[in-house]
Amino acid sequence: MPEFTPAEVQSLKASYDEAGQGHVFTYFDSLALPEQKAFFEQLQKIDPARVNKLRELALNPPKEDGEAVLEPLPDSANASILDSKPEDIQRWYDLGLELIGKGEVAVVLLAGGQGTRLGSKAPKGCFDIQLPSHKSLFQIQAERIIKVQKLAAERAADPAKAVIPWFIMTSGPTRGPTEKFFKKERLDELTDEENDNRAKGEPYFGLDPANVTIFEQGVLPCITNDGKFMLASKDKVAVAPDGNGGLYKALQDEGVLDKMRASIKHVHAYCVDNSLAKVADPVFIGFAAEKKVKIATEVVRKRDAQESVGLILQKNGRPDVVEYSEIDEATRQALDPKQPTILKFRAANIVNHYYSFAYLDSMGDAVNRLPPHIARKKIPYFDVDTGAAVADVKAPNGIKLEQFVFDNFKWLDLPEFACFEVRREEEFSPLKNADPARAADGSFAKPPEDSPTTSRKHIKEQGRRWAEAAGATVDNGDADGGLEVSPLTSYGGEGLESFKGQVISQLTI
Ligand code: UD1
Repeated sequence: MPEFTPAEVQSLKASYDEAGQGHVFTYFDSLALPEQKAFFEQLQKIDPARVNKLRELALNPPKEDGEAVLEPLPDSANASILDSKPEDIQRWYDLGLELIGKGEVAVVLLAGGQGTRLGSKAPKGCFDIQLPSHKSLFQIQAERIIKVQKLAAERAADPAKAVIPWFIMTSGPTRGPTEKFFKKERLDELTDEENDNRAKGEPYFGLDPANVTIFEQGVLPCITNDGKFMLASKDKVAVAPDGNGGLYKALQDEGVLDKMRASIKHVHAYCVDNSLAKVADPVFIGFAAEKKVKIATEVVRKRDAQESVGLILQKNGRPDVVEYSEIDEATRQALDPKQPTILKFRAANIVNHYYSFAYLDSMGDAVNRLPPHIARKKIPYFDVDTGAAVADVKAPNGIKLEQFVFDNFKWLDLPEFACFEVRREEEFSPLKNADPARAADGSFAKPPEDSPTTSRKHIKEQGRRWAEAAGATVDNGDADGGLEVSPLTSYGGEGLESFKGQVISQLTI
């Protein structure tokens, strides 16, 4: 029995016809029933009129009055951990832990990207950066949550409330393997050795599965240069994830806001590929909660003009981000008139955000108004006119639409927004690229950048700094000259007093 009536097909087709996308039904009647059913389901999930509007918004973004004036954020919207008073940092930390202890803080992880540049077949969170422990990024992040929950519980009036629910946003391609990975099931995408390493330990890395929610962002059709939805085959529209800005719609559609509503007041969101991400960082949460802002964002000092990072700034007096792929050369290279040896626009976006729950819950239909960005791509497709699949596409033949997670910043007034500068070496080491090829002598042909090698090194260097600050000496023969400190041992360098005066000879503590 089909699970749709002819009338339902007619009405769906009418909505596609009306949006000028009726061609997707060309082969519908010729399909076998199971294929019709699956195709019907896919088509039902897409709102062709909404997609047309998003395309229109992307091609003709709302005009701004006058010329866009870009300036660094004013001091009033900025704070820096580098020059804050120790008592301020301590107060934010205490407040953050208090809020976690009351069960008011949730964490959202953006993990829907496919890691194309890294070349990993499995989702990025499953990646093993070859620490001595072979912990994956997901495991490191899970353990940071476990530890900070513990630190909060130690001070909480009711320790049982010190729970940080973790909401993991995946996409069509990453959801299945992410779910399996958390359950410690083997992944086809990994080798036997990789599976053996990663299957060790408890499911959900010791977190209570009831507090981990894996949800899925939406997709948008791929569109030809003249505005038609592309087909992947006779019975499938070609689609791509809707970008990390799909977060806001997914929080609504996937019931995440409903789940949070009872107790959550503060949300920390971060990227899966930042190996130093301080998940649910009490200092950042306390800072933003004290300021009572709707959104706060962390930045680090931009490494150099060429670094592939977005820039946090103000545009026509509102907070904004200019993405690295869209920045003009003059802005990229501009120097600070007050300090001409450094870049004028140097607040590098690390996609580490605080949201007040009330703000997320108030977004409503605004989630459909984030203007998507256009990526022109070579997209394999099924040619409706010839009835043949075209796999080898030589030149960009269509567009993918992607919403960016920071494109709502500009809807806020400056006082509703805060920017918090953190130390790069403590909080930001992104895993974006594969390591470069090695020369015959084993050395890298060029220096690795934002790669497994740099992520591993930065984690181990941090561990060594923490141990030395606690009064220990590290003498462990580690190849990177560092020390892996398990997040279960220390979240941010605290709790290492027992190592004072000791020589640490282990690779990991
Ligand atoms: C991103 C930022 C950039 C920032 C840099 C820092 C955006 C659009 N750009 O660039 O400003 O300086 O990180 O490292 O955010 N993701 C999804 N769904 C998607 C696409 C991506 O969840 O459809 C997630 C990824 O899993 C990742 C994060 O978003 O956690 C960033 O995505 P990625 O595509 O790697 O962004 P970058 O180009 O590196």
